[in-house]
Amino acid sequence: MYRIVRKEVLAPRIKSFLIEAPEIAAKAKPGHFVVVRLDEKGERIPLTIADYDAASGTIELVVQEVGRTTYQMGMLEAGQYIQDVVGPLGTPMHIEKVDCVVFVAGGLGVAPIYPKARRHYEIGSRVVSLIGAQNKDLLIMRDRMEKVSHEVRYSTDDGSFGHHGFVTELLKEMLDSGAKISEVVAVGPLVMMRAACRVTEPFGVKTIVSLNPIMVDGTGMCGSCRVTVGGETKFSCVDGPAFDGHKVDFGELIARQNRFLAEERLAMEHFTRGIAPEREECRCHQG
Ligand SMILES: Cc1cc2nc3c(=O)[nH]c(=O)nc-3n(C[C@H](O)[C@H](O)[C@H](O)COP(=O)(O)OP(=O)(O)OC[C@H]3O[C@@H](n4cnc5c(N)ncnc54)[C@H](O)[C@@H]3O)c2cc1C
Ligand code: FES
Repeated sequence: MYRIVRKEVLAPRIKSFLIEAPEIAAKAKPGHFVVVRLDEKGERIPLTIADYDAASGTIELVVQEVGRTTYQMGMLEAGQYIQDVVGPLGTPMHIEKVDCVVFVAGGLGVAPIYPKARRHYEIGSRVVSLIGAQNKDLLIMRDRMEKVSHEVRYSTDDGSFGHHGFVTELLKEMLDSGAKISEVVAVGPLVMMRAACRVTEPFGVKTIVSLNPIMVDGTGMCGSCRVTVGGETKFSCVDGPAFDGHKVDFGELIARQNRFLAEERLAMEHFTRGIAPEREECRCHQG
């Protein structure tokens, strides 16, 4: 059992959990994730390790409520326990000092980006962070990203903060202005990562994306998370989740991601009706 040490609401339907998990905290690196099961009957969901501290033996998970399990997790409070937290899983991101790394975060993508940006900052790379969200309230972890970036620019879809438009437009602006970028790391919704790759490809700038296909075991056994990268089949949970974005078949991945939509809607409907009728408005569903 894993104790929740602290819970914080970062934005509407986005919550941060500090969890006691000393063995995971001791081994975690930027790019790792865990698979969480809330209780004995719970489904297994992958969540990125957004931060870790070996000294205090804690890891941080940032969770957006999009369906039954994430919504259920959002109801947990400090002092309560999570049944299983398995990890660290995945291949950590290869990080070495470069002249200029640009992080492009869409929505919740800022959580997986934070430990990578911090590491680059620590080893002396120039870090530029471009952070986008639908509106100002959903721009999370701003203070922390500003501490590990030499420059931060924001965008919102509704124009409530920063550039009015998509975060990938900020990236295009930088490239068009002749900025020398060693590599781009883009994390967020699949369509946003695909857009970032389309922007960088003509400029020949290496672009790493972190893929989030549906995962079940998270250890390379079930094949659920397979993706096509450079014409080869890869398992995102063990070969990734970080890949060369210019080689990813995003069309196939986007189609596969939607294959359980009907079941996911049903699970959420049963959950809101049976357990939390006062939160019926949360039936709304990503996608
Ligand atoms: C490597 C990786 C890291 C992730 N990190 C985070 C994170 O740090 N914070 C966060 O909020 N979310 C993260 N996700 C997504 C998160 O796992 C899903 O939002 C969660 O599983 C949804 O479960 P649900 O029951 O609440 O919603 P559901 O209604 O079951 O699903 C909602 C949507 O979530 C996706 N999804 C559902 N089940 C899975 C699954 N088993 N694996 C992956 N995606 C799924 C699908 O796109 C689906 O349409 C990550 C996914 C991956 C693969
Ligand atoms: S989640 Fe089963 S193989 Fe990757």
